[in-house]
Amino acid sequence: MSAAILEIRGLTKRFGGLTAVDNMTFDVLQGEILGILGPNGAGKTTLFNLLTGFIRPGKGQAIFQQQDLTRLSPTQIVNLGVARTFQLCRPFVGMTVLENVMVPCYSPRGMATREAPSRRSMRMLEQVGLQHKAGIPAELLPYGDQRRLEIARALATDPKVLLLDEPFAGLGSSEIEPLSQLVQNLHQKHGLTIVIIEHKLRVFMQLVQRIVAMDFGAMIAVGDAQDIVRNPKVVEAYIGKSETDFAAA
Ligand SMILES: Nc1ncnc2c1ncn2[C@@H]1O[C@H](COP(=O)(O)OP(=O)(O)O)[C@@H](O)[C@H]1O
Ligand SMILES: [Mg+2]
Repeated sequence: MSAAILEIRGLTKRFGGLTAVDNMTFDVLQGEILGILGPNGAGKTTLFNLLTGFIRPGKGQAIFQQQDLTRLSPTQIVNLGVARTFQLCRPFVGMTVLENVMVPCYSPRGMATREAPSRRSMRMLEQVGLQHKAGIPAELLPYGDQRRLEIARALATDPKVLLLDEPFAGLGSSEIEPLSQLVQNLHQKHGLTIVIIEHKLRVFMQLVQRIVAMDFGAMIAVGDAQDIVRNPKVVEAYIGKSETDFAAA
């Protein structure tokens, strides 16, 4: 059993009367791929926003290297080694694909690798399979490639923990498998700890080692994929919300 790299304790966020994240407590283990599963509106993105300093919790902590991430800024958190992607791709427009990755290469952790940003950014593009599109304006990339660009930009900051917010959303079935393979490669080759948000259970079956299932802001189950599929609370959450989602799971 690995040690915890990130300890989430009682994390709670309310928006007016709505509890978007409700007293969540779990560990992210060193070197694992952890899935965060939940229907739309379950609070998954809010959880990432709390872990990356975009919003502040009402209660709770997220401890990484003896520091509480919920008290730090997004920049401080990236500089500690926790990077994320966003559910909606937002490339820097008016810049090429390569330039988009060069920017985070100039981050303190990127520079600490002592690899020249021009060389490092190309290597990051190679890792995600976009090297042949380096010179294209980023906004002209097809959607699936923009997802890869997001991952390359996060990798450029040399993270220890990578948080991916629905990297498979909007992709066709033929694109999901190669991206899943890419995530697995990053994990195996670089020993990265990865947390992935997804609302379809099926995508997780081969990819993740453990799943934290959420509904209405709360953690309803934690376990391996096989446990989660059979968990009555998970089944109910899915059938309650959308039969098609569950069928897709
Ligand atoms: N900034 C905000 N202000 C008010 N409500 C919000 C805000 N962000 C998220 N919410 C609400 O919190 C709930 C969880 O949202 P979100 O974390 O985006 O869910 P998920 O990513 O699981 O689909 C939703 O009901 C959403 O409308
Ligand atoms: Mg979301």
